[in-house]
Amino acid sequence: MCGIIGYAGNRPAVPLIVEGLRRLEYRGYDSAGVGFVQGGRLNVIKAEGRLAALEEKLAHCPNTLAVTGIGHTRWATHGAPVERNAHPHCGGRSGQEHLAIIHNGIIENYQELKADLLAAGYEFRSETDTEVLAHLIAEGRARSASFLEGFAWALRQARGAYAVAVVTEEEPSVVYAARMSAPLILGVGVGEHFVASDIPAFLPYTRDVVFLQDGEIVRLTDHSWEVLGLFDLAPREKSVQTIQWDLQAAQRGGYKHFMLKEIFEQPRVIADCLAGRVEETSHGAAGRALLPELDALPVPSRLRIIACGTSYHAGLWGRHLLEQWAGVPVTVEIASEFRYGEALFEPGEMAIAISQSGETADTLAALRLVREKGCPVIGLCNVVGSSIAREADAVIYTQAGPEISVASTKAMCSQMVLLALLALYYAQRRAVPGAEAVRADAFRVLRDLPDILEAALPAMRETAQRLARAYASAGSFFFLGRGPAYPLALEGALKLKELSYIHAEGYAAGEMKHGPIALIEPDFPTFAVALSDNLFPKAKSNIIEVQARRGPVIALINPGVELGVEEPWVVPAVKGPLAGFVALPAMQLFSYEMADALGKDVDQPRNLAKSVTVE
Ligand code: F6R
Repeated sequence: MCGIIGYAGNRPAVPLIVEGLRRLEYRGYDSAGVGFVQGGRLNVIKAEGRLAALEEKLAHCPNTLAVTGIGHTRWATHGAPVERNAHPHCGGRSGQEHLAIIHNGIIENYQELKADLLAAGYEFRSETDTEVLAHLIAEGRARSASFLEGFAWALRQARGAYAVAVVTEEEPSVVYAARMSAPLILGVGVGEHFVASDIPAFLPYTRDVVFLQDGEIVRLTDHSWEVLGLFDLAPREKSVQTIQWDLQAAQRGGYKHFMLKEIFEQPRVIADCLAGRVEETSHGAAGRALLPELDALPVPSRLRIIACGTSYHAGLWGRHLLEQWAGVPVTVEIASEFRYGEALFEPGEMAIAISQSGETADTLAALRLVREKGCPVIGLCNVVGSSIAREADAVIYTQAGPEISVASTKAMCSQMVLLALLALYYAQRRAVPGAEAVRADAFRVLRDLPDILEAALPAMRETAQRLARAYASAGSFFFLGRGPAYPLALEGALKLKELSYIHAEGYAAGEMKHGPIALIEPDFPTFAVALSDNLFPKAKSNIIEVQARRGPVIALINPGVELGVEEPWVVPAVKGPLAGFVALPAMQLFSYEMADALGKDVDQPRNLAKSVTVE
């Protein structure tokens, strides 16, 4: 997830773009760059690190008179966060580069496209999928009558998600941009126009915006803007809307808190996690799960998952899939405990360190200990180039984009997608009988999930709001689940504790009768995950035990189920353990609304830090 901005107007473009990038820095900041045409020549200036590093470079090349340009702040998904991978990327034959592009998104088929472009004689300087688009547009231009046609030709070859903006020597006062499954907004000013991944980039200059849709191209100059269809190049009617948000609300995409924004980003996160990781087949058979990062490592005889907090809960959930689908025995360890234990390993074992930040001190120490024992470690991280990512033997990136809210939400969702893919990947490498049918089913569900969640989230939020009004005065809560829903119960309890400061405990529902049930009384509510899986009858009887002690129950159930609880919360039915993807946002929203109803600081709960780099 990167921040992009394009400008066509009458002011000096470079300082305006850099200022816009500063307002987008919350989207990611491992490198930044600008591109513009001056004196008929393409200029690209970029720097590794925060925006200040780019400003420092720009200070040494003053007199940038351009009034049209593009700029990018990067959050790496492909290629290390170094200058050669920073955007813009230039397109054209070596020495004759004539266009520059910035990109937010993931091009799934970039390797195939790159092979064709290499064969056609294009040279590559970076490891990015974006540079492939740059040369592809140059190739499109060479084959077409106009830049616009060449641009559209190239984008039609690309599969995946993108919001792009391009400048070209051929039309120095024009910015071309396009979107497919990634946000892109046009800002309509007086004598100037903007395009950006987020409104904050241009908010000081205009509040009049046009929301671009997938498959649309826009051509901007200082005095005009035109939206065209990518496939037919026919003009599209678009309406200009005036937004009322202040800068902070705009950075949160209009949501009240980053946490809420990140919960609502989860459909997109699932699609991004899958991008390029599910083989396309033309013959209807289930394609393979693609995790080329792991191809060089052996299939483990046993897996040790090591993590903290929410990432630990993702690991507990993933264990069910790895054991059920791939037949690989899994132990899940809390990193702070594991690092001071005996750390005994058998030959053939491998470990996975799960960490959103990639910097959690206990997880990093555990990773080092495991590697000292001669056992390979896979890092499952969100932050590219983080310590865990660097020190692991192989790393899989979750591609969830920066998570700003201290309480982790979308990161867990992305870790769950990757753990599901990992289970399918090991099942295919171990040739587990029936693996193909399981894979076909799982891919169908995973592909449907973004739409299912997109449609369900608004109603889920309303239910969470209503429940929060009714239960915000509770002093304690139980969260119960069985099987793969048990880690979700742990996560539901953690979220409620850390956000609303209400005491909460997550329990395996079957454990209640071994002690905790003594606490149940009419003002001690229980939140149960009771989705229709093979453990539903068991979960149901545990809920009845709670009700028999007059404990109020909120239960997540599937349509058509009668449970006789105070608060049945019906969520869409999703098959098997992947139902967790529906339970997770319901619980996140519940905690969010409870905390908000109590007036707590949702994005920055007391005593917590986003990245725990101390022991
Ligand atoms: C809870 C939360 C924490 C983190 C934990 C591990 O909402 O955010 O429990 O999950 O500190 O962090 P990472 O995944 O960065 O290692």
